[in-house]
Amino acid sequence: MSMVVFPYKADDPDVAVANLATAASHPRVSRVVAVGAASTPLLDRVADGAAEVARRADAAVEVVVQDRIGDRRPGKGDGMLTGMRLFLASDEERVHFYDADITNFDASWIDGAEGALDAGYPVVRHFFPRASTDAMITWMVTRPLFAIGHPRSALWRIRQPLGGELALTRPVAEELMASEFVTRRSDWGIDTALTYAMAAGGHAVYEHYVAGGKQHALYGSLAELEEMLWECFEAAVETTRLPSPPPFEHVTEPEAPAPPAIAHKVGYDVESTLHLLAAEWTADEEEAAASLPPSIGEPLLANRRRPTFAFCDADAWYRALTSLLSLYRPEPAWRRVLFRLWVARVLAYTTTDALCGHGEAMRRLETTVQSYAARSGDREAGD
Ligand code: DGY
Repeated sequence: MSMVVFPYKADDPDVAVANLATAASHPRVSRVVAVGAASTPLLDRVADGAAEVARRADAAVEVVVQDRIGDRRPGKGDGMLTGMRLFLASDEERVHFYDADITNFDASWIDGAEGALDAGYPVVRHFFPRASTDAMITWMVTRPLFAIGHPRSALWRIRQPLGGELALTRPVAEELMASEFVTRRSDWGIDTALTYAMAAGGHAVYEHYVAGGKQHALYGSLAELEEMLWECFEAAVETTRLPSPPPFEHVTEPEAPAPPAIAHKVGYDVESTLHLLAAEWTADEEEAAASLPPSIGEPLLANRRRPTFAFCDADAWYRALTSLLSLYRPEPAWRRVLFRLWVARVLAYTTTDALCGHGEAMRRLETTVQSYAARSGDREAGD
């Protein structure tokens, strides 16, 4: 039987409770746990709803507050690691994770994962269509850094390496929890660490396609993603210093064109993002930016006078990432420089490739990651 874990922060409690109920009524599920980031009135509302769900369901349903497990900022990582710990202390054979805020969560997510687990895949990852200007950390940071760090591995081909929707067998969960690289990541870096560690374990990965997409709350300006950006970037940089994963079987279900609601959606608010480039440069940031190669550092610094981002095309971004691999330090000045560079890259992409329609924009994003892997593979071969 399976356990289903929903990490919960401050999402709509009604949505979270509906998701607990969906999971608890699935015939394969014997235990459902919402892991709250902190004890809050919202989590109390989830707990009240969960008690109601438990009265009607055959599965056990509970709400807990996450343990302090990692040594980074206490965040989503501690939530997932707490779920993993509860799973390993239970009798269930499989564990699923789903974000608590998915408004179109239904039994088909669990069915899709269970079917692939039944077929012998120890790791199932759900993936789904996203707006062409959504997933900008995935497309601009995680997959590129996996491609640069491990160009010959299938790691960078995993569609949604930051996805929190996955299912695992017990032996894989045991292995992940034995990895310090994973258990230290209490912050947003957890998904990166888990994706790398699953690949490093050589496990076959099955990617299950959810055609309807994941409907959840969208972002305002890119400033909302700043902390996530640093933490995902820092985790991905660490993976570039670790051994490349061995070959592993990687099966991806075919994708269908995105439904219009996703294809026409804008992932973030462009106007409120633009001013982030020029706002409040400190002397330390200026010094950090000035140490970048001039073809990147100079146009970035020009933002002190007016927003400038066209310079940050796919080629400049490759050079920026490879320079950051040696220059970046997890300090405020470098974090801001990383953030501004990423904002420039996302705006440059939004105002060029993303204007070509959803299908074409997605093809270009994929081709760019492929080209980074090819470029890094050539560089390695030349070493
Ligand atoms: C990503 O990039 O995938 C993050 O979820 C932010 O959208």
